[in-house]
Amino acid sequence: MRNLEFDYSLILLLFIIHSSCSTSTNTPPDSYFIACGSSNDITHLHRTFVADSQQPSVTFDSEHSDIVNSSRTFSPIYQSARTFTTLASYNFDIAHKGWHFIRLYFHPLSKILASVSFSVVTGSYVLLDHFSFNTSKHNSAYMFKEFVIDVNTDILTLTFVPSRESDVAFVNAIEVVPVPDKIFSFDQTLYIPKLKDAALETMYRLNMGGHSVVPSQNSTLFRVWEEDDKYLQPNPLASNMSVNPFSIKSSSNDFGSSEVAPADVYATAKALTNISSKSNLTWVFPVNPKFKYILRMHFCDIISKSRNSLFFNVYVNSEVLMKNLSLSAFTYDVGVPYVIDYVNNNISEEASDKLSVTVETGGPEQGLMLSRTG
Ligand SMILES: *[C@@H]1O[C@H](CO)[C@@H](O)[C@H](O)[C@H]1NC(C)=O
Ligand SMILES: *[C@@H]1O[C@H](CO)[C@@H](O)[C@H](O)[C@H]1NC(C)=O
Ligand SMILES: *[C@@H]1O[C@H](CO)[C@@H](O)[C@H](O)[C@H]1NC(C)=O
Repeated sequence: MRNLEFDYSLILLLFIIHSSCSTSTNTPPDSYFIACGSSNDITHLHRTFVADSQQPSVTFDSEHSDIVNSSRTFSPIYQSARTFTTLASYNFDIAHKGWHFIRLYFHPLSKILASVSFSVVTGSYVLLDHFSFNTSKHNSAYMFKEFVIDVNTDILTLTFVPSRESDVAFVNAIEVVPVPDKIFSFDQTLYIPKLKDAALETMYRLNMGGHSVVPSQNSTLFRVWEEDDKYLQPNPLASNMSVNPFSIKSSSNDFGSSEVAPADVYATAKALTNISSKSNLTWVFPVNPKFKYILRMHFCDIISKSRNSLFFNVYVNSEVLMKNLSLSAFTYDVGVPYVIDYVNNNISEEASDKLSVTVETGGPEQGLMLSRTG
């Protein structure tokens, strides 16, 4: 694995599901929500971003920084930015070592900022490597990037490095949110070796069969799940399924916890209906073949009336991952969340810039459905 790069990117797929567990509240301790360059605090999707000049535990070199503002943005979080003409760092005190989400918000408030190039580094990881908004293949004027870092120091330092002397770096907002260990206990699974000192980037996080799920009182860790339809290959048998989120049961393992995914995600699914023969649902994701990808599939059988009546096959890039999977063999009941992680290691093999996930009905006996979420 290369040092100065994050070696894994993260794809989260969520299948239908969700759990009954009590909803957890908003702000975990040791979280930071920073409105960069802003003169006042900003409330955005149920959390308050504090102006970076007002946040004592956050330091940066202000001599070479500047601020830009505009009121013409779709969300206040993007109304201001701090710019740096030289290398500059934000430092965050970390009370509890372990996994943290780092989210960086970008909206170039001027033409110049849209074309500048810079890197963002933390410890030995390069989060963004000569990033430029204009060439990032992003088709929106706003973006946020989400990383998951295993922080093992008392201070988390995010360093912004302009690519050239004539460049500037900028950022509109920064979010640091501690992640409960169990969420990334990949070693509990069949397919993923323990990730030590890793840095991951979230690439896709989808809610199957439902609307996007945005941070709310009852979703945890301020994650966003987008609708799956954009990635789904057309299939007239595909349909959206949903149940009341309160009907999702809790699971005896950690994966039943609402910290893994909110009930709203588990309560919807994409299903194959009217199955009289085998059929497939396939989602296709553009990827960079230079990285490994972790695929997390969240399942919850919200369709079956009884155990052992739903069987299906799962393929990744057309290779069988699970054959005749019966969720109730693991969950002992219907309506219970279950998570399967998989790492796509095929870096050296014929490189593909697509990763596909397929769910196939295992037999004529039952319809199947899944939703996935990242
Ligand atoms: C499923 O729901 C999504 C989001 O509401 C919608 O865009 C899509 O058309 C629906 N698909 C089907 C097959 O009903
Ligand atoms: C989460 O909140 C939304 C909107 O307030 C609500 O419709 C949904 O039922 C809630 N889900 C759970 C599991 O509480
Ligand atoms: C479903 O997809 C897999 C993997 O691409 C393929 O092997 C299988 O034949 C497909 N099944 C159907 C019914 O199309």
